[in-house]
Amino acid sequence: MCGIIGFTGNMPAKDVILNGLERLEYRGYDSAGMALLEDGGITLFKRTGKVADLRTLCANDNSPCTCGIGHTRWATHGGVTDVNAHPHLAGNVVLIHNGIIENYRQLIVEYGLADKLVSETDSEVVAQLLNIFYDGDPIAAIKKTIKLLSGAFALCIMFKDIPGKIFAIRNVSPMIATSCEQGSIIASDLTAVIAFTKEYFVVPEYHILTLSDDGIVVEDLKGNVTKPEILSVNWDITDAQKGGYPFFMLKEIFEQPDAIRNTIAPRIENGLPDFTEDGINDDIFAHCKRICVVACGTAMHAGMVGKNLIEEKLRIPVQVEIASEFRYKNPIIDENTLTIVLSQSGETIDTLEALKLAKTFGSKVLSIVNVKGSTIARESDYVLYTHAGPEIAVASTKAYTVQVAAMYLIACRIGLVKALMTEGEARQFISKLQSAPNIIEETLKHADTIKRVANQIKLSPDAFYIGRGLDYVMGLEAALKLKEISYVHAEAYAAGELKHGTIALITENVPVIAFATQEKVYEKVVSNIREVKARGAYVVLVTMDEAVNDPNICDQHIRVPRVSSEFTAFATAVILQMLAYYTSEAKGLDVDKPRNLAKSVTVE
Ligand code: F6R
Repeated sequence: MCGIIGFTGNMPAKDVILNGLERLEYRGYDSAGMALLEDGGITLFKRTGKVADLRTLCANDNSPCTCGIGHTRWATHGGVTDVNAHPHLAGNVVLIHNGIIENYRQLIVEYGLADKLVSETDSEVVAQLLNIFYDGDPIAAIKKTIKLLSGAFALCIMFKDIPGKIFAIRNVSPMIATSCEQGSIIASDLTAVIAFTKEYFVVPEYHILTLSDDGIVVEDLKGNVTKPEILSVNWDITDAQKGGYPFFMLKEIFEQPDAIRNTIAPRIENGLPDFTEDGINDDIFAHCKRICVVACGTAMHAGMVGKNLIEEKLRIPVQVEIASEFRYKNPIIDENTLTIVLSQSGETIDTLEALKLAKTFGSKVLSIVNVKGSTIARESDYVLYTHAGPEIAVASTKAYTVQVAAMYLIACRIGLVKALMTEGEARQFISKLQSAPNIIEETLKHADTIKRVANQIKLSPDAFYIGRGLDYVMGLEAALKLKEISYVHAEAYAAGELKHGTIALITENVPVIAFATQEKVYEKVVSNIREVKARGAYVVLVTMDEAVNDPNICDQHIRVPRVSSEFTAFATAVILQMLAYYTSEAKGLDVDKPRNLAKSVTVE
């Protein structure tokens, strides 16, 4: 949450910062700001609204200044106002912050800051403290200040009388940095720097960085200079652009076939799952008696799809935990439990803390992460990187289906290692998994029917997804997607559970989307559909059947390819994503930046 960028080099900082902020905007977009450091002075621009509004605000500034910092905000402390926007200025110091300073109220009292503060933010308190401690030695001031802070922070700091330099330090909140031909850049994530270089390093926690136009010095708090490991990525700037699509979300929906191919192909050897290249030791599979999946939101829903498969096929118990709940529990896990952590960003704070807790119980942690070098990846015992490329839309799509594919690969490997599947069965399973991209390609052809349904859903304040088994799990993700980007209130119900209460909400034209792809319970779901149809619902039936025999059971029919029951998830995923996308688009909303949300939830 919040995007930060700093640049010092041999070209105007303003353009680098504004372009970088546009790419970081998916991390938070209620206000934006920038500070440029010129000889002897700081020019500050900040306001509520999007980065485009900030661009307008500083349109007349033609400063050749080559050093500056920028921020795009997702409000935590203090409302969405111009004054609460970053950067924050205090005397000689200007800074931007991502994270939460938990003890900021206490610090205001202890250091008598109340009269000095102009904003309501925790971040300005840090600027004031730095200004108090600054006597010409920036490193000393930073050390004194951060000793006082509790909470998560990624800070970029400039001092009025130190031209051309940016100082940075972080705890928990993510930050990467890079030196390239044009200068030194620091940012919340790679999307902001990918236009310059594919090489970067993760800023080590509690190390002070000094960025200047000829490089970056990294030192620990004792003054020892260190050289962080340089990482590189296999995607480039075109992957972080819309490429002709109206929104990133639609582009990312259509990228799913390739994302899955790129994720599974390197892990299939001679028709069987193989994690040798990932360094994942089969021992963790051989020894596990139970599996605990921990994640948030959509990533957790991918974990639930994995649970469905593992329990059905392997009969190994799997518990799926909401990370924000798990981290404050006394969880029932031990050294015989394999903890699987799912995260696109690899930075979700609740997931990270849950992971750390699982380790304290002796559980081995295998994480499925999309962002290379992210904190969750680094803290895990083993990592399986998904290769979805950058996911920019706030609503997760391709990261979800690659997580499902990764869970399927893992399930198959566990089955082999534990001899719960024969080699022949595993080969057959993997060959079906290799068809997942084709299933998605086939399903993407239903866009026109889905648009018609979306035009109906947009008229209703509520919508319901019903299904049984895997279809119910898919309904949970469908409801989340619809709520978050189209603001239509949606609920998922196990189809058989409706008549225990919720059917009271089914009245004339209320959309009910029935996922009925599981043959074993198909007739049961059809009975449930009749119950809602009898009460006037507008029913959309998603099935593998080519034609529906009884036209009275649905108003729209969407057919998914005929595949074995666990693989319908890939088709249903695309349908639920497109339903949410086209409803949001039909309502004229900003699909990629839904209200109140931000990608990468790095605060509790
Ligand atoms: C919903 C969505 C979120 C994320 C959740 C976890 O579309 O994107 O629910 O899935 O915030 O994020 P990661 O996967 O980055 O840990």
